[in-house]
Amino acid sequence: VRRPLIAGNWKMNMDHMQAIALVQKLAWTLDDAGHDYERVQVSVFPPFTDLRGVQTLVVGDKLSLDYGAQDLSEKDSGAYTGDISGAFLAKLGCTQVLIGHSERREIHGEGDETVNAKINAALRHELAPVLCVGEGLDVRQAGDHVTHTLAQVEAALQGLAAEQLSELVIAYEPVWAIGTGEVAGPEDAQEMARAIRAKLAELYGQELAEATRILYGGSVKSANVASILAGADVDGALVGGASLDAEEFAKIAQFE
Ligand code: 13P
Repeated sequence: VRRPLIAGNWKMNMDHMQAIALVQKLAWTLDDAGHDYERVQVSVFPPFTDLRGVQTLVVGDKLSLDYGAQDLSEKDSGAYTGDISGAFLAKLGCTQVLIGHSERREIHGEGDETVNAKINAALRHELAPVLCVGEGLDVRQAGDHVTHTLAQVEAALQGLAAEQLSELVIAYEPVWAIGTGEVAGPEDAQEMARAIRAKLAELYGQELAEATRILYGGSVKSANVASILAGADVDGALVGGASLDAEEFAKIAQFE
């Protein structure tokens, strides 16, 4: 019932020329493989400066790829030097936006309140929030990973109603598995995805919980994606490093 989503977070990689080359190569590699986008959604999250180029390509060539930004401002416009409004992203054809990625939380000190405000901003502009949550190594070693991650989910969604969350995607990314080659085991990914779904059911009811896609992220590669996505509650992957290689990312999207 839930359409799997394979999402590529490029992070701060690829200038606008490289972005066009990567999207072209990704699109033709997926076409060659006969990729069925209706069955498995594929999204890319390039840097802001690439979005116009990606839009031109996607619209001009009628590509079935979705794209979004890696962050947005909690405000809509005004004196916020350096920030980017969700309104601008929507106008560029973005359909999704990453919110609360662990690198934003760590490097830019974004806390749960900011994450909550950014989800509200995304919803004002009809951008589907891809809410990123997950624990660091110390929390995992203390055995508090489920409590920690569910608290992040609850805080991020504070004050929101089920009707607003029909497009919500949640990405579970254990921080210790990001860019380290260390992958959470398929059982760990499934355990957390299931716990997040149960939390959604508790907060919003069964219907929203069943409809919400929950992704796993952290050192996902073509070699491990199938086992991770075998978990009944794992509905896709948020891919960092491996999304910068068109052939590898296409293989991940063709995980079955
Ligand atoms: P890697 O796939 O490079 O570990 O990155 C995961 C990630 O942070 C995606 O958002």
